[in-house]
Amino acid sequence: MAQADIELLSAASRAEIDRWIAKYPPERRQSAVMAALRIAQEQNGGWLTQELMDGVAAYLGMPPIAVYEVATFYSMYELEPVGRHKICVCTNISCMLRGSEEVVAHLEKRLGIKLGETTADGRFTLKEVECLGACVNAPVMQVAKQYHEQLTPEVLDSILDGLE
Ligand code: FES
Repeated sequence: MAQADIELLSAASRAEIDRWIAKYPPERRQSAVMAALRIAQEQNGGWLTQELMDGVAAYLGMPPIAVYEVATFYSMYELEPVGRHKICVCTNISCMLRGSEEVVAHLEKRLGIKLGETTADGRFTLKEVECLGACVNAPVMQVAKQYHEQLTPEVLDSILDGLE
């Protein structure tokens, strides 16, 4: 293991990753890669540097490329800095049929940015994502770990007003 890489992960992050590793057989510690990436991302203000991914790879005993493959495949991992509040809007079929285009338009107008962008003050990142698995209450978006469902312009305004 590359000790320097591993030390990029804080002691608290390593302790949390250890709890995930413990859920799997000892020879399967790599199964904790998704949790480990999430933990590393949270440690770094919401995004992953290559060094942090290398740290995860070293800690789990994986080739770095295998960790990059996971980090680039799933939309919840960020490889660039993001705003303090990451707003993920689902535009998949159920949400589209229930007005996700209006949701996106409202958010873009109110925040003054387009999908994929971050506000100049670093407060908000707006991101388009695939199905969040809450189709029954479409349209849906996720802010940090919280889902917001049955979105309307009024609901969106009250959510944004509540975010510093
Ligand atoms: S399509 Fe939007 S939550 Fe499933």
